Amino acid sequence: MSAASELLATLTDRVAEGEWSAPGRVNLIGEHTDYNEGFVLPFAIAERTAAAVALRDDDVLRISSSFSEGAVEVPLAALDDAISAGGLDWAAYPLGVAWALRRAAPDAAPRGLDVAITSNVPVGAGLSSSAAIEGAVASALNDVWGAGLDRVALARVGRIAENEAVGAPTGIMDQMASMLGRADAATFLDCRTLQTQEVDLGFAREGLEILVIDTLVSHAHSTGGYAERRAACEAGARAMGVLALRDLAESDLPRARELLDDVTYRRVRHIVTENQRVLDTVATLRDAGPRAIGELLVASHASMRDDFEISVPELDLAVDTALANGAIGARMTGGGFGGAAIALVQGDRLEAVASAVGEAFAAGRYRAPRTFPVLPSVGARRDA
Ligand code: GLA
Repeated sequence: MSAASELLATLTDRVAEGEWSAPGRVNLIGEHTDYNEGFVLPFAIAERTAAAVALRDDDVLRISSSFSEGAVEVPLAALDDAISAGGLDWAAYPLGVAWALRRAAPDAAPRGLDVAITSNVPVGAGLSSSAAIEGAVASALNDVWGAGLDRVALARVGRIAENEAVGAPTGIMDQMASMLGRADAATFLDCRTLQTQEVDLGFAREGLEILVIDTLVSHAHSTGGYAERRAACEAGARAMGVLALRDLAESDLPRARELLDDVTYRRVRHIVTENQRVLDTVATLRDAGPRAIGELLVASHASMRDDFEISVPELDLAVDTALANGAIGARMTGGGFGGAAIALVQGDRLEAVASAVGEAFAAGRYRAPRTFPVLPSVGARRDA
């Protein structure tokens, strides 16, 4: 029996209607470009969140999870009020999804459910444990309530939950990556049109691995720096007279330098150059394979460190140490201000890079990082 079904059995005697799951993600490249309507290249990872669901006779949603004590109960009739009142903590993710899905699919037939959620996606590591919850719950409710939404619509539901119920002003990258992944492939996403292309990574063929270096420095996107960066990007776009920074090219940068203050200019330059790096990475993967993308990853990290200023010393140390020990490329991944870095390494260098990073952190008197490889994997699905 799966962990989610076991947890469900502690809630109810009823047989499960089914079980759905969705993965976390790693972003290979394209950071903070999503809410600027630009390009991203994330991939889903093997670590997943599962939601097992059983029907109830009343209209109560009762949700229990492996990462919290006790169950949260909200009658469907009181869902809108519960979301507006806030203070739901982790339950804002699944309840926010239920709330957003009902709005997105007015013809659906919502009914009371017991929902058990279990996860092995590390929390706070920048691997989108939240998008994994949203993807699993959205996929489950979509089927059980007969909402009939497609994967892109379900990703939108997850993002609305995140933005409006949780209150984190994020883009749509994480939800799209979690809904759409495939083994040994990344999802190339145009965040304006939401059109996607699968891009073969070729890591397996080339014997390459992605090592995650979780600095354990915590970040929270509902507060602080993330929202501030977003506001700077919007101000930059307004001053440059475009709808979103996606509409600027590198040839617009000289004009941006004249018009914008130094900080806003550097925020804009990160987004403009990062969009180009995503396009270049996709082309390089297709034409030359994964060994040729190292410099693009490194340039992306430098841009986040120097222009967008969202790195922290631990992330810089992780990247520098990985590169000094033979990584093909490395960069921080996710929203920044903590979380994880990734390093693209030859499989037989994995241990050496991981232990060199551990030693460098010890020498710098930083908390020991958690290092582990991730595998580009399949997106959201029904498991049972
Ligand atoms: C977080 C957000 C995403 C994206 C990244 C930065 O992961 O959830 O929408 O903005 O940060 O690329």
